[in-house]
Amino acid sequence: MSVLPESTRSVSLRFPTGFVWGAATASFQVEGSTTADGRTDSTWDAFCRRPGAVVNGDTGEPAADHYRRYSSDVDLMSSLGLGAYRFSVAWPRVRPDAGPVNPAGLDFYDRLVDRLLEAGIEPWATLYHWDLPQALQEQGGWTSRETAYRFAEYAATVAERLADRVAGWMTMNEPWCQAFLGYGSGRHAPGVTSGRSAIAAAHHLLLGHGLAMERIRAASAKPAGITLNLFPVHAASTSDEDTDTARRVDGLQNRLFLDPVLRGGYPADVLTDLAPYGLPELIQHGDPEIIAAPVDLLGVNYYRALLVAAPDGPHDGSPSEWVGVEGARFLSSGQPVTESGWEVQPDGLAELLVHLHREYPAVPLYVTENGAAYPDVVGPSGEVVDHDRIAFLDGHLRAALAAIQQGVDLRGYFYWSLLDNLEWAEGYAKRFGLVHVDFETQRRTPKESARWYADVIGRNGLPA
Ligand code: NOJ
Repeated sequence: MSVLPESTRSVSLRFPTGFVWGAATASFQVEGSTTADGRTDSTWDAFCRRPGAVVNGDTGEPAADHYRRYSSDVDLMSSLGLGAYRFSVAWPRVRPDAGPVNPAGLDFYDRLVDRLLEAGIEPWATLYHWDLPQALQEQGGWTSRETAYRFAEYAATVAERLADRVAGWMTMNEPWCQAFLGYGSGRHAPGVTSGRSAIAAAHHLLLGHGLAMERIRAASAKPAGITLNLFPVHAASTSDEDTDTARRVDGLQNRLFLDPVLRGGYPADVLTDLAPYGLPELIQHGDPEIIAAPVDLLGVNYYRALLVAAPDGPHDGSPSEWVGVEGARFLSSGQPVTESGWEVQPDGLAELLVHLHREYPAVPLYVTENGAAYPDVVGPSGEVVDHDRIAFLDGHLRAALAAIQQGVDLRGYFYWSLLDNLEWAEGYAKRFGLVHVDFETQRRTPKESARWYADVIGRNGLPA
């Protein structure tokens, strides 16, 4: 399925002038040095110590040792011609144990940002990519409303320090994952398994976003917003059951976050679906206005679309991230899959971007993540041949361009990820990088896809 009329397919393979070309990482996934310069535990450090929580017992050490190698990593970015680098700031470095500001931790991001600017690369900062100080988790983490206020204070600290140099701000990365994987199914840190906790976390994450927007605005004139993981959702059939399941999945996955941020409140059907989990009672006077603080950008993380069918029997009661839609079935549409088992569906990106453009108030869009894991190996003469990733990138960039040609205000694209890194509970085995990392030696080897992407960036367009 394509949303693009055949006739517009080959109009131009060039992106608009000024289009931002980047790559992304996240603190816990790449930095390592988890006890350096006063950093204390995040929920992920604690979670990784739980037997069986992370594949192979992998932890945040050594990751890609980016904390110590950031300067040569910026050289790598330069060699690829990247215009922008999206990184995240580790809360437990900046305010360890959620206590006073730790200048040594904050200094790291200062050095990173300066080094990027020196290399002519725009720094794009995400303030929260899931590494909550463990000390806050011990007070309830995101199930506690207080955490939203602590987040805003931490956001202000970072914004004040980096205000003049960061090109774009994202308050949060993928609050869906944090809420529903972290507190619903427990597949991610902190490993809580409770539907009510997941819904409380979702609301408090959104509140934290809104409160942080105010603090960023007070410190910085640069564009700011939030990054969501969004999916086109299709029903497997036109039956009432499948259609309603798709509506609920879309509600939980997409509209629960999009609507309060961009339309001023939760959708009525989502409020009803989530009433048994306490959503209406969580909303205090003034919350909708705080959460709907105007944003200058929406970050879209796109990996695939969802094809949904109704549950085929009663739910077995196991913990689920699909709070209120437990037992929903996710079907294959028959496309090849990546190493993560995710279908490669580039058309879904165009569909999603066009949908956002048509259905939500105008806001500049950035693809802040899109990428694929493949079983990359360094060959005998030091090459990493990753044609699958090149095909993935080519397909998705064509889809992005198709969306632009249909009027979508898409201003940038960040590949996930610059470097192979810790793929959360999946450990180090899932390699998403443009650059291969040997985690024993920390040797970096740009994959063929890195050279291909560099060529796209250089010509600001795709090969015909
Ligand atoms: C989403 C997350 O933001 C990122 O941390 C993760 O590694 C990628 N997607 C791939 O799963």
